[in-house]
Amino acid sequence: MDVRQLSEEVTAKTKVDTTVRDVEKVISGLASSSHFWEIVCTVQKPFSVVAEIIGALRERGLVSVDQDGAITLTRQGQEFLKDNSIAPRRDYTCPACEGRGIGLEKIKEWMQKFDELTVDRPKAIIDYDQGYITTASVMARVALMTERGDLEGKKLLVLGDDDLLSLAAGLTGMPKEIVVLEIDDRLVNYINEKASKLNVPVKAFKYDFRDKLPEQYVGYFDTFNTDPPETLEALEVCMTRGLSSLSGEGCAGYFGLTRTEASLKKWSQFQQMLLSKFKVAITDIIDNFNHYVNWDYLLGSIRDDYSFVQVKPKLNWYRSSMYRIETVSGFEKIENKPMPCELYVDEEALIYKPEKSR
Ligand SMILES: [Fe+2]
Repeated sequence: MDVRQLSEEVTAKTKVDTTVRDVEKVISGLASSSHFWEIVCTVQKPFSVVAEIIGALRERGLVSVDQDGAITLTRQGQEFLKDNSIAPRRDYTCPACEGRGIGLEKIKEWMQKFDELTVDRPKAIIDYDQGYITTASVMARVALMTERGDLEGKKLLVLGDDDLLSLAAGLTGMPKEIVVLEIDDRLVNYINEKASKLNVPVKAFKYDFRDKLPEQYVGYFDTFNTDPPETLEALEVCMTRGLSSLSGEGCAGYFGLTRTEASLKKWSQFQQMLLSKFKVAITDIIDNFNHYVNWDYLLGSIRDDYSFVQVKPKLNWYRSSMYRIETVSGFEKIENKPMPCELYVDEEALIYKPEKSR
């Protein structure tokens, strides 16, 4: 099999640069799992790239797909693995912290409290591309912020909060003030109701991140948290809003970025934007920190041309890396103005959008 030709074919189909190493990584993933979502999770390549590579391998007889969508390497695939010295994917993730570096044992009580508080939380809906993270993920994020000195006695802005991070942070009793700016009325109401019952300093307001930041919040906060849509355009708007809200140098921003909807090429372009346009330092990138609870609308919202893709996930496969950025001396105020953001979905996105409506 000509791997280079296969990678070029996938690049042409997906419009996402795909390398020989990417193909090898997918084959390595296939050697340790037959479940599509587990392979997407471990290979850490854009969803469409993984799907097209598997499709191309099937065409060439290296993998077979059974009626339940399970993917296995054929004898020919096994031989290819051996001939090219590709090792099956190994996993040495620390089971005690699920790889986050925050001991779950230490935040057990918070986790329990959060689960009790949010048992009636609003469902994730497609309208705003929602999907929320597990309790362990959200409480570990709060612990991380606390550990880094960004939460206790501090003012926190949460831009978009289907994760209910505001309540998670609020229930610890540590932040001085938390403001949520969120587009979904259901969440705005829910957070305000819970916050007043809990008697914590959390206030949520309706806000569209394309609008300028409310003036009173410009330069007001110590820390911001967000989970941006992963087009470069949306990332830029979100970072502009978050960083505009910070009061000066030594403040921090937290957000997740996936490998499933953002290629490393996009990561590189985004990191350059952070360093050159926004002039912040990237202090932390913690791989696979945020695990998402599977959401109901997944299979109906993605491509349906491959049977192995249309299978119900057996694990919380959708994950993002935790970024922490910090403003450094010379941090300048960014102009606060409306920013039209046209692009929420690009060729790396999970949600299938026909070419015309993009
Ligand atoms: Fe650990």
